[in-house]
Amino acid sequence: MEVEVKAQDLLSYEGDALIVNLFEGVNQPGGATRAVDKALAGSIAAAIRRQEFKGKLHERLLLHTFGRLPVEQVLVIGLGKQEAFTLDRIRSASAEALRHLRDVGAGRVGSIIHGAGAGGIEAGQAACAVTEGALLGLYRFGKYKKPEDHEEKAIQKLTLLERDRAKIRAIQDGAHRGRILAEATILARDMVNEPANTLTPSELADRARKMARALGLTVKTLERADMKKLGIGALLGVAQGSEEPPKLIVVTYKGKKRKGKGPHLGFVGKGITFDSGGISIKPSEGMEAMKGDMAGGAAVLAAVKGIAELKLPVDVTAIVPATENLPSGTAQRPGDIVKAMNGKTIEVINTDAEGRLILADGLCYACDMGVTHVVDVATLTGACVVALGSLRTGAFTTDPGLMRRVKEAGEASGEKLWELPLDDEYGEQIKSDYADMKNVGGRKAGAITAAKLLANFVGKTPWVHLDIAGTSQAEKDQGYQVKGATGAMVRTLIHLAMDFTAARHG
Ligand code: BES
Ligand code: MN
Ligand code: ZN
Repeated sequence: MEVEVKAQDLLSYEGDALIVNLFEGVNQPGGATRAVDKALAGSIAAAIRRQEFKGKLHERLLLHTFGRLPVEQVLVIGLGKQEAFTLDRIRSASAEALRHLRDVGAGRVGSIIHGAGAGGIEAGQAACAVTEGALLGLYRFGKYKKPEDHEEKAIQKLTLLERDRAKIRAIQDGAHRGRILAEATILARDMVNEPANTLTPSELADRARKMARALGLTVKTLERADMKKLGIGALLGVAQGSEEPPKLIVVTYKGKKRKGKGPHLGFVGKGITFDSGGISIKPSEGMEAMKGDMAGGAAVLAAVKGIAELKLPVDVTAIVPATENLPSGTAQRPGDIVKAMNGKTIEVINTDAEGRLILADGLCYACDMGVTHVVDVATLTGACVVALGSLRTGAFTTDPGLMRRVKEAGEASGEKLWELPLDDEYGEQIKSDYADMKNVGGRKAGAITAAKLLANFVGKTPWVHLDIAGTSQAEKDQGYQVKGATGAMVRTLIHLAMDFTAARHG
C-alpha cells in the first residue's frame, strides 16, 4: 500500500472513503470530525445523540455520503477516553479503521492524523503512528492461498490529510519513519509465518544475505565446520539430530561516523526453525506453532534492516544461531554434555530446552566480537507464557541501566515488557553434578532459570534478555496485530538503537 501526505482539506478529498475520529464521551464533535459532520447534515452528531455511537476505543460508525462529499463513505473510529489516549492507541485505531474499510471494499482512503489535533500529540509522531498502524494492521500472509480468496479486496493508497502547510514536513518525515518501522516488522512476520519446510536455517541465512546485500551491510554465515573450529559446541549439539545444516548468521551495520568510539549493539536472536523438542519430544497438539521458534532471530535481523534504513549513527550486529531441533538416530540425548564457545559445559537434561543452548553460543560470539551492549530475543520458555500471557514480553537483566533504556524503547514502540528477577539463589536450580550447569532447573521459575543459564555466557557485557514465547504470535486480529506472527520486539530494538544515537548518552 502506498502512503502519501497531502496538504489538503478533508472535505475536498476525492477517493473512496474518509477516516475521522471521536473521543469517547464527546457529544459535539470538534475539528475535522465536526467539519465532516456538518457536510453530512449532522449525521455523526445524530448517531452520538441517539447513543448509536459513543467513541469507545475501536468502535466504528460507517456512514454513506449520498454525494454530500466526494467520497462514498465516511468511517468514524472511536479513540476511547481522551485521558487514556496514547500513541499506541493511534496505531491501533488506524489499523482497525483501515481493516474495516478494506472489508467493505474501499481502495483509496483518506485519513485525518489521529491525535495531532485535540489529542495534543506532535504531528510527526502522530503521522508515524498512523502509518505504522495502517501497514501492520493490513498485513496478511497469503502466499499459499489462491489470490482470489482475498486479493480483490486491498487498499492501494492511504492519503494522510492535513490542512496546515507548516506541519507537512514533519508529517512526511513521520510517515517515512512509520513505513520503515512497519516494513521491518513485516519482514519478521513473514519469516515467522513461513512454514519450516521452506524456512530452514539455510533459507533464513539466504534471507539475511538478501537483506544485507540490498542495504550494503556485511553478512557472514558460519557453517558446521567453522563452528567446530570455534568450539561452538552447544549449538552443534542441538543441530546434530537434523539433516538440515545449521548456520550461525552474522549481519553487521556500521552507522557510526567515527571508528572505535561509541556503542556497538549486539542483538542475538533464537533461530530454531522448527522445535519438535528433539528426543524429549513435545506432544503433537499445537506443535505446528513451533515453526515460529525462530521469531527472535527474525526480530534481530529485521531490526537491523530498520536501523540501516533509518541510517542511525550507531553500529549494530545481529547474530542468529539457526538450526532445527529434531529427534533422530544422530540426535543429542538427555544426559549428554556439551561445551559452549567460552569453554563452559552444560549437561543436557532435556533436549527441548534447546533455545538456551544455541543462545549460549550466540551470546559468546557477540561478546567475543566486542559489542558494548547485548540484547537477546527468544521464544524461550512456556513458563514465561504462564507468567505473563501473551500481553507482555519477559525481560531479564544483570544491568539496570540497559534495562531502563530497553523499557523506554518498549514504551515508545507500544510493546509491553515486564521485568522478572535474576537473584543469585535461582542459580542453585541449574547446578549439575557433572557439568558447569544443567539446561533445566525444574518446574519452578522456569523463565528465570533459563535466563540464569544465559547469564553465564555474556561475561561483563551489559545484557538484557527478552523472552517472547508469549508475544511472538497472536491468536486473533486486534489493533495492529493480526492473527499469526506479531514481529514482537522489532520496533523496540529499533527504538533502542535510536536511543543510543541520542547525544545525552554519548
Ligand atoms: N520453544 C520452546 C518454548 C515455547 C513454548 C515457545 C511455547 C513458544 C510457545 C522452548 O524451546 C521449550 O521447549 N521450552 C521448554 C523448556 C523446558 C523443557 C524446560 C518449555 O518451556 O516447556
Ligand atoms: Mn524446545
Ligand atoms: Zn524452542
